[in-house]
This record gives sequence, structure tokens and C-alpha cells, in this order.
Amino acid sequence: MAKILGIESSCDETAAAVVEDGRSILSSVVASQVEEHKKYGGVVPEIASRRHCEDIVGVVSEALERAKLTLEEVDAVAVTYAPGLIGALLVGVNFAKGLSMASGKPLVPVHHIRGHIAANYLAHPGLEPPFLCLVVSGGHSHIIEVKDYTEFHVIGRTHDDAVGEAYDKAARTLGFSYPGGVYMDQAAREGNPAAFHLPRPHVDGCPYDFSFSGLKTAVINLVHNAEQKGKTLPVNDVAASFQQTVCDILSPRLMMAAEEYGYRKIVLAGGVSANSGLRSRLESDCAQRGFRLFAPPLPLCGDNAAMIASQGYYEYRAGHLAGMDLNAVASLPVDPQTLSSSDKR
Ligand code: KG4
Ligand code: ZN
Repeated sequence: MAKILGIESSCDETAAAVVEDGRSILSSVVASQVEEHKKYGGVVPEIASRRHCEDIVGVVSEALERAKLTLEEVDAVAVTYAPGLIGALLVGVNFAKGLSMASGKPLVPVHHIRGHIAANYLAHPGLEPPFLCLVVSGGHSHIIEVKDYTEFHVIGRTHDDAVGEAYDKAARTLGFSYPGGVYMDQAAREGNPAAFHLPRPHVDGCPYDFSFSGLKTAVINLVHNAEQKGKTLPVNDVAASFQQTVCDILSPRLMMAAEEYGYRKIVLAGGVSANSGLRSRLESDCAQRGFRLFAPPLPLCGDNAAMIASQGYYEYRAGHLAGMDLNAVASLPVDPQTLSSSDKR
């Protein structure tokens, strides 16, 4: 039995959680800064760092309290060290180092995307690698072979915007507040997905890769053209057409990759996995092919620390520990976990 304290501060959520054996959540606390960033239309890194500094002590204390544990009773401290906003990551990393140094507990560095994937272990007790995973978040869009708990191979990626980023930018153009993905999703349910034909680009020579910047630009052009002509755009129809296009880009590539690489277990992860259109499209496309689809429950789709503690457990079990020289890294591939040799003990 290993109880892992997880800490997450890569973007605009300060979070801490305690998870047992990678699977059971003993506590999970998330302090969101969304309201503060809303008025700027996106995350302001300096504000994010300051808020993390203000919130982290309270959030970590509450996670331990709710789990009815002291720091001495946890087995390791896991922390998101990459990728993300550097100033935001540093708050969590330094706090985790302090806890590790004070308690003598091992320090476990966790890659944020690996954490998103692990959110599924918390919700689906029988889920074990290998499986094929579609990770769609505000900063990343990947098709990843999860060969083992700590072994990953990226087979598809975005060449420009991440899906969540495209959602948020299109949403902003349509007048929704930040982060607009969830509002686009709500609007899409009321609209006609065939109202507008938006671009579904292919990336030459990379059958599993995607590109979303053209889709975002197409929405911007629709809005500008309507403005110039003094017309009102049917926002729900634009949102529905956008969502249809996202599904038409993602699902066929994921299905093709599963067939080609021989996976029958498909996993969805990341903030955009909360999207109702994507979930139902993948459910039906997977059912048609006899694939099993796993997706996180809505509270575990977005950033949280339970997913970091879950992945932290598997990294800890694999001996992937860090020393006091652990640093935050703004951008880092999910495969392989490139720790410097001094970080590997
Ligand atoms: O994984 P996440 O919480 O943060 C990152 O690691 O980036 O993802 C946040 C992204 C945002 O772009 C947000 O708009 C999007 O997830 N999102 C959604 C929905 N809920 C959150 N996008 C589309 N539909 C949703 N229901
Ligand atoms: Zn995330």
C-alpha cells in the first residue's frame, strides 16, 4: 500500500490530492483561478504564479486533512514538473521539494500529460496498459501508445494549435468568455452541425497528425464576414459545425491508428475529453469496431492533482525519483521521460 501526495500547478489550477496505490482517491482539492483570468481573456502567467504562491499551503494542508493523514504518513510526494507555464510549475516543484526535504519522503516528478492519462486509472479500476490514448487538452493534442504505466510512444500530434486552444480561440471570437470550450460545447448541442463546412486539413505524409489553426481561422473569417455584411451569425450553428469538424478530424485518425497498431482499448484524456460531442462520437465509432472506450468522469477531465498522484504512484514504483536539483520544464515530450542523469536515483 502506497499513499502518494500529488501536487499540480502547471497552469491556472492549484491542486493537491492523496491517492492510494494509484487507484483510490483519499482526497482531492482544486483551487481554480479561472475567474481571475477571465477578464483578460486567457491565463496571465504572472497572476497564475502569484495565486499559486498564495494558495498552495492551504490547498496541500486541506488535501492532507481531508485524507486524515499527516505528511509523515504519506509514502512520497509527486509533483507536475513539466510541461506548463514555467513560473506556475516552479511554485509546485519548489513546494514539493520543501516537503520532501523536510519529511525525507521521496520526490517523484510527473509529466502533466501522463497525469491526464492516469485520471482514467482512478475511474476505471480494471483499466491497465497497453492501450491507445487520445489526449486533448488546452496545450496538447496527441495520439499516444501507452505501452506500460511509464512507457509511452507518440504516434500522432498537432502541427499547430491544440484542440482546447482552438476551442478557446473560436469561442472568444464568437463572444464567449474564457475558457470557452465548455460554452462552445453547450451551444453546439443547440445548433446544426451541417450549417457550415469548415476545413478538415490533412498533414502530408503524417496520417495520424492534425492541424487546427485553419479551423480557428475559418471561424474568425466567418465572424468578420458577417460583421462586414451587418449580418448576425447563428452562433449555435457555428459551434455545432466546429464541434462536428473537430470530431471528423480526431475520430477517423484515432480509429485508423487503433486498427493499424492493433489496439482494442481506447482511452480519452485531457480537458477536452469533457466535450459531449467528442465523447458520443468516439463511443459510437468505437462500438462499431468492437473497441472499448474509457473516458474520465467530468471532474477528472480538467487539471487536478489526483491524476498526478496516480501517475506518481506508477513512477514511484518504477523508481523514477528526483533529487533536490529537480527543475520545472516548460516543454517536454511525453516519451521518453527525459530526466537528467542526476535526477535519476
Ligand atoms: O487539460 P486542461 O484542463 O488543461 C491543460 O492541460 O491544457 O484543458 C483545458 C482545455 C481548455 O481549452 C478548455 O476550454 C477545454 O479544455 N475544455 C473543453 C470542454 N471542457 C474543457 N473543450 C471543449 N468542450 C468541453 N466541454
Ligand atoms: Zn491539463
